[in-house]
Amino acid sequence: MTGIDGKVVAITGAASGIGEATALLLASHGARLVLAARRSDRLAALAARIEADGGTAVWRTTDVRRRGDLTDLVAFARERYGTLDVLVNNAGIGPISPFDELRVEDWDQMIDVNFRGVLYGIAAALPVFREQGSGQFVNVVSTAGLRIVPNQAVYAATKNAVRTVSEGLRQEAGPDLRVTVVSPGHVGTEFADSITSPTVKAQVRAVDFALAPDDIARAVAFAIEQPSHVDVGDIVVRPTAQG
Ligand SMILES: NC(=O)c1ccc[n+]([C@@H]2O[C@H](COP(=O)([O-])OP(=O)(O)OC[C@H]3O[C@@H](n4cnc5c(N)ncnc54)[C@H](OP(=O)(O)O)[C@@H]3O)[C@@H](O)[C@H]2O)c1
Repeated sequence: MTGIDGKVVAITGAASGIGEATALLLASHGARLVLAARRSDRLAALAARIEADGGTAVWRTTDVRRRGDLTDLVAFARERYGTLDVLVNNAGIGPISPFDELRVEDWDQMIDVNFRGVLYGIAAALPVFREQGSGQFVNVVSTAGLRIVPNQAVYAATKNAVRTVSEGLRQEAGPDLRVTVVSPGHVGTEFADSITSPTVKAQVRAVDFALAPDDIARAVAFAIEQPSHVDVGDIVVRPTAQG
């Protein structure tokens, strides 16, 4: 299958920001969505909006820190639609801070959500993709991993761990599966809400340029819509103003 129309796409972190915009864009191109995040009210509202616009979407409360939730999500997609064509591992948090603040719980949370959560997604979907003989992972990483700056090292490390895993997975995937990483630059979303360091939160909120979530959604759509023999490996999308 090529293109987007008819594909079953599960998106983690679909409750807001990039995940929500990606769901809306893919649904408008005929994808059948499986929306996942922790906030059920947001997912229900988004699914209703997609259905009201003539699209197709179901949702499932999912915490990517729990392996069983990802297994259930993939099973749910197959139960509702008979298949899963794409898993967008998008859920992520960014409680960035200087090392000296020793916000070790935040470090742990970033490892659990941003890295372990993606591994659980891979563990859930890979056997299904193998059985089907097709499937695509789209893993949302970050330009924070491409240009290392103060305060963002742990966050960048979790994203670069996903980058590394994605490349290894791509090499093991063989000719039937596709693995894409998308690295957004600064995007205007709720992302800064997870920052616990007051100084850093104020700094991030003061940044006066940002992409819209839809700017990243189009990159995800590009990777998905290519013919099945085309594996778009790595897409970097920054605001022109970002250094
Ligand atoms: N915004 C940026 O500047 C930027 C730049 C580069 C990369 N990114 C990456 O883009 C991705 C999306 O972020 P965003 O900017 O769209 O921020 P966002 O609006 O805060 O979206 C993050 C999403 O992840 C979900 N989430 C958080 N923890 C979760 C968990 N434990 N289990 C399941 N879902 C969880 C949230 O929903 P719930 O709270 O309801 O679970 C939310 O839907 C992240 O991976 C982020 O690292 C963002």
